[in-house]
Amino acid sequence: VVEKHRRDGLPATFDQVDLPALAAREGTPLYVYSAPALRQRVRALRQALSGLNAGIRYAVKANGNAAVLRLLAEEGAGADIVSAGELERALRAGIAAADIVFSGVGKSDAEIVLALEVGIGRFNIESRAELDSLQRIAAARGLMATAAVRINPDVDAQTHAKISTGKAENKFGVSIAEARGWFQARAQWPNVRLDGLHMHIGSQLLSLAPVREALARMAAFWKELEAAGHPIASIDVGGGLGVRYREGEQAPDAREYAAAIAQALAGFGGRILVEPGRWLVAEAGLLLSRVLLEKHGQERRFLVLDAAMNDLLRPTLYDAWHDIVRIDGGQASVRYDVVGPVCETGDTFATDRLLPPCAAGELVAILGAGAYAASMGSTYNSRPLPAEVLVDGDRYALVRRRQTLDELLAAELPATEWRRT
Ligand code: LLP
Repeated sequence: VVEKHRRDGLPATFDQVDLPALAAREGTPLYVYSAPALRQRVRALRQALSGLNAGIRYAVKANGNAAVLRLLAEEGAGADIVSAGELERALRAGIAAADIVFSGVGKSDAEIVLALEVGIGRFNIESRAELDSLQRIAAARGLMATAAVRINPDVDAQTHAKISTGKAENKFGVSIAEARGWFQARAQWPNVRLDGLHMHIGSQLLSLAPVREALARMAAFWKELEAAGHPIASIDVGGGLGVRYREGEQAPDAREYAAAIAQALAGFGGRILVEPGRWLVAEAGLLLSRVLLEKHGQERRFLVLDAAMNDLLRPTLYDAWHDIVRIDGGQASVRYDVVGPVCETGDTFATDRLLPPCAAGELVAILGAGAYAASMGSTYNSRPLPAEVLVDGDRYALVRRRQTLDELLAAELPATEWRRT
């Protein structure tokens, strides 16, 4: 589905849903997700992993929309969560607690309590302090927690610095030396079954070389631990598989990725977990937006959209490229800076982008907007969160209502009731 749109550059329909008609009905900015594209991705990954004892733990942060999550869950994905909010989303989507892993460098006691009490499958532990908290909280409830150590393998993931997580200087995970000490002292945490290894070296990985290097270190450590009498039941290789946002970019495919895992972990008898986010959802989504106006600046030509950085933060935060297409097609002949209405120069989706001439009212689609797009949205400039729809064949479902201004303002209170602590 997505490949076809990229080739034609004319997503007048997404699946078989007419985008201008959809925009007229539901308004813009509008996130549009394709159910067939989501299914295609999750099935392709399952297929690629089918020779391994492996499970998918979808990274909910990429796109936690309830309908998207439910669709992925129906296709057999579990969840990788990083907060109580994501735990709640995963459970409501029908994902079994046993198929949930909890990652993150700063889990609060309250979050650990919730996750323990619903019986999640595994905690990915990132510090000694967190291991101690898990022990204390599990012991107080007479529960046994299952945990993996997140290893920071100190490899350069060759991705954007802000989404690189596996170098020694990053806040994530612990060194192999520290993890070794934890396994040796396992008895100090009697309510924690410490029998797993975890890693996640970064996101939007376009080369598998760093993955192979990190996996090799994990494999050597797993073998060392088993030889030392510490059985390892699970190795979680994290997420990170990149996608092609831009013509000419080469992304690894799922089979190559699975082969790299199989090769590095050959002989491992336990469960392998993968935590992809972006790869499953990025290309299944687009952000539909209307041109508010065209503006001839003193030096540049601007196309001002009704979508802005609060809706899609990636271009300004990571200098990320997203293809932008005019729904009505046409010959690309004008270089625009495509911007939003927010009062920041950083509110720019693209600079010097070659597009067909666009007038006010024209519809454009920003592609690759299924991952880290709606989920990173905010209401900056008091702009309500956009609506989201899921298309399937010739039908669509509204899967998030557009936020109303009343909802946007509902939690705020005038300072009329003064209290003393
Ligand atoms: N597992 C862990 C522990 C993670 O921290 C992440 C992503 C994933 C899995 C999923 O990674 P993925 O397969 O999606 O690459 N906002 C950024 C991406 C941040 C990724 C954070 N962690 C962006 O828009 O590029």
